[in-house]
Amino acid sequence: MKRLMPKEKAMPTNGAIPKERALVLGVHPKSASRKFQLLLHDVRVMPFDHDRDFAKALVLNKDAITKSDLVHAIKGSDGSGKYDEGWDWALIRLLEETKENKMHFFVMYLGSRLVAMGGLSKDEHDGSTAYFSSLRVDPKNGRQGIGETMMLELERRARELGYSVAKAETQTVNDSMLEMLPKLGYGKIGEKQDDYFDYVIFRKKLLPSKEEISRIN
Ligand SMILES: CC(C)(COP(=O)(O)OP(=O)(O)OC[C@H]1O[C@@H](n2cnc3c(N)ncnc32)[C@H](O)[C@@H]1OP(=O)(O)O)[C@@H](O)C(=O)NCCC(=O)NCCS
Repeated sequence: MKRLMPKEKAMPTNGAIPKERALVLGVHPKSASRKFQLLLHDVRVMPFDHDRDFAKALVLNKDAITKSDLVHAIKGSDGSGKYDEGWDWALIRLLEETKENKMHFFVMYLGSRLVAMGGLSKDEHDGSTAYFSSLRVDPKNGRQGIGETMMLELERRARELGYSVAKAETQTVNDSMLEMLPKLGYGKIGEKQDDYFDYVIFRKKLLPSKEEISRIN
């Protein structure tokens, strides 16, 4: 009788992501680390669909924010760290903008689970710059390369939409993002404040990947 192989066993054993999957996600198969491999095997990134994703996106927003340092660090709070429904409303407002095409919002599924999401819109000061917002990763899958992969995917989609620069902001208390963005090639261009946080503003020039260039040639 034919023995069924577990899914992981069916993956390449030489440390490479299946080529098509790696290229779709903008990760070079050879340079991707081991932690990416298992994840990318069953990963799909898709435009947000209200009926399919809305409820799951709200849950992900809450889970990701609650587990982060952000809830403890809001200006003027006592640091006790409660999730506030203002976070829900910020996301809902942003998702509303997808209906008018002001916002391109993407979700990442790992199998049947929505594990990450992020938005892309035109920067208010510069039409050639894509502004990335609301990157969230399910804390159950934290530190597995999903956030980085989602950023690379947002960059790829931004290039497809004709943007040549990417911009992202993060809170000065957000150590994960402060470490991730420079690793992905973002440089600090400024700072800003609002009622809740101080922020660092980052920018990156969007160059086509080697794979995209070879597809054009
Ligand atoms: C920030 C966030 C998106 C990171 O997602 P993630 O999938 O865990 O991140 P990755 O595994 O892709 O990590 C990529 C890099 O980011 C940095 N990083 C991620 N988590 C980190 C942590 N807890 N501490 C320090 N650096 C961290 C590291 O440089 C990491 O690379 P490494 O694992 O090779 O060292 C996720 O924690 C999250 O959703 N946080 C809450 C919401 C949020 O802060 N969104 C951004 C608002 S600007």
